[in-house]
Amino acid sequence: MRAVDLIRKKRDGKTLTKEEINWLINSYTRAEVPDYQMSAFLMASLLRGLNKEETIALTETMRDSGEVLDLREMADPKIGKHSTGGVGDKVSIVLAPLLASAGVVVPMIAGRGLGHTGGTIDKLESIPGFKTDLSVIDFRNTLWEVGTVISSQTSAIAPADRKLYRLRDVTATVESIPLIASSIMSKKLAEGINGLVLDVKVGSGAFMQTMEEAEELAQLMVDIGNSQGVKTFALITDMDEPLGKTVGNALEIRECINILKGRGEEDILEVILTLGSLMLYIAEEILEETEEVGVFKIKEEPIVKEKLYEKRINLESKINSGDALEKFIEMITAQGGNPEVVPNPGLLTIADKIMPIKAAQDGFINRIDARKIAESSVLLGAGRNKIEDEIDLSVGITLNKKSGSEVKAGDILAVIHYNKEDNLQEAISLVESAFEISSEKPEPREIIKKLIL
Ligand code: URA
Repeated sequence: MRAVDLIRKKRDGKTLTKEEINWLINSYTRAEVPDYQMSAFLMASLLRGLNKEETIALTETMRDSGEVLDLREMADPKIGKHSTGGVGDKVSIVLAPLLASAGVVVPMIAGRGLGHTGGTIDKLESIPGFKTDLSVIDFRNTLWEVGTVISSQTSAIAPADRKLYRLRDVTATVESIPLIASSIMSKKLAEGINGLVLDVKVGSGAFMQTMEEAEELAQLMVDIGNSQGVKTFALITDMDEPLGKTVGNALEIRECINILKGRGEEDILEVILTLGSLMLYIAEEILEETEEVGVFKIKEEPIVKEKLYEKRINLESKINSGDALEKFIEMITAQGGNPEVVPNPGLLTIADKIMPIKAAQDGFINRIDARKIAESSVLLGAGRNKIEDEIDLSVGITLNKKSGSEVKAGDILAVIHYNKEDNLQEAISLVESAFEISSEKPEPREIIKKLIL
């Protein structure tokens, strides 16, 4: 085969076979196809699209380019969770110990922040000593010991995706639904899981700006997961406003500790409990399923709702009893971090220079634009524009008010935590303009937009 023929075929809108995709991706991973040819192929794929079979073939090839964890020796259901990325999205850090405290094994390979979105790995690294670059052996041992583990994508996991993602980042080929779906799913399917819940974000702070795009991405990832025998559900959730009260790495860990202590903000708690109950639901389905492993049974929606309600109560009890927090302490300790941050969050380094942002008028908070808050946080140094950039884990933004709150002129809406003055003025303007104040109380936000079973 020749790369040029496959590029031409895709350029002309034709469909590639599984063998052709396999050859192209494997040759690129071995550096036998150069970046310039792969860039052309990616652009042709972005413009012409990939059908479901091509997308599944691409996912399988990227997953099989590295190690696929074999966790069959662990009898319990192993359920993964993934978010397509957002602002203030610290959900994984709470869900992993919460679900482990409810008896579900949760292996997680997470990412770093890029562009305006934050990353779970950066957030965890703000815990002193916490190791996120676990070898496959340490990953497996921690999972055995604690029931959950969160690590970064090592070079052993889906190396083809790693190489392709870097190339997409600099060739304007990230924004393609089949490329995003296959990239995410290749890593998730390497985790050795038998169930998966996806949180597809939609809104100003998300990759997907419209419900239509979010549904297309969610459905494609659900189809890929199920084609591989992994029971996959997706939720579409709102990312028009930052989740919870904080944006910025150490600040978000402090908030996670508060959530696990039972002091979570309503919006983030809703996302955590809905995703968590779905994870428990899938785990139970897997336990019940005997001979037909991998065959997906779609349930009547009212039954699903009732079952999800039971699971939610169970998860709330794990927070209220302190079991979930205990599991978080175990997880921090097993990954080399200082567990004292839980009783004493003052051990987290948070920038001590602060700038309050005040309301200019009386009224109700109508909206807090997630994208503007995220851009402000990147300007302060909390985010990166290139994957190699160093970031400042101690800076960020605390939201004192959320949408729907009534405010008086002069009330503090948010606090900026900063170290450097460089971009401060611009960061302040962005936070000020992120808050939209109106005279009428807005309708409550719809956080959970759709469940894709
Ligand atoms: N996250 C990924 O892992 N891959 C993408 O393509 C986009 C977001």
